Amino acid sequence: MKLVVIVGTIRTNRQSLKEAKWVVKAASAMDDVDTKLIDLADYPLPFFSEPMSPRYNPERKIEPAVQKWLDAVKDQDAYVFVTPEYNHSIPGVLKNAIDYLTTELVHKPSTIVSHGTVGGARATMHLKEILSESRSVVIPYQVAFIGMSEGLDDEGNLKPELAANPYGPNAALKSALDELKWYSDALAAARNQQAD
Ligand SMILES: Cc1cc2nc3c(=O)[nH]c(=O)nc-3n(C[C@H](O)[C@H](O)[C@H](O)COP(=O)(O)O)c2cc1C
Repeated sequence: MKLVVIVGTIRTNRQSLKEAKWVVKAASAMDDVDTKLIDLADYPLPFFSEPMSPRYNPERKIEPAVQKWLDAVKDQDAYVFVTPEYNHSIPGVLKNAIDYLTTELVHKPSTIVSHGTVGGARATMHLKEILSESRSVVIPYQVAFIGMSEGLDDEGNLKPELAANPYGPNAALKSALDELKWYSDALAAARNQQAD
């Protein structure tokens, strides 16, 4: 499984980067998983202002900065979106990046790792809806991490007391990644069969 972990915020002092590092560490420990971190801070995109939906625009002209983002997400098997909650939804920078997508996520699974005062649950609900328009298969397992800022160090290591909890964040993350792998394998086989 070629897995991409997308960091959904870009602000100075953001917390989402360490949550993404935590995900990358867990995914990298799995068999047959090739994990890549995509930090939206490395993909500065203008606000979407193309003349029509990119999905229905055969004349689409893609700016180099946008092409770089599209190239990073295409030809991957599965996606983890790391997002906090900004005003009960996802950060605008993440929504803007998704607005540029066309077929990159079609028939591929994704999950969401969120945080916030209610674990980012409302952002996750919105993101599930948004990703359905990208025709990604959002799997039934997501991770909503309450207290993430204190629970992880800057390198994405979970505090020992939390790591010791068999029902804690590591267990939730493992379940989500295992499920993502299952869907990734199943959907990759289906996509390959369709291509034959
Ligand atoms: C503009 C803004 C709006 C926010 N709105 C919410 C919110 O609606 N619900 C919530 O639980 N936390 C909210 N927060 C807190 C963030 O979820 C928290 O600061 C989180 O760490 C932000 O992610 P980041 O550090 O990667 O930017 C908000 C933070 C910001 C900056």
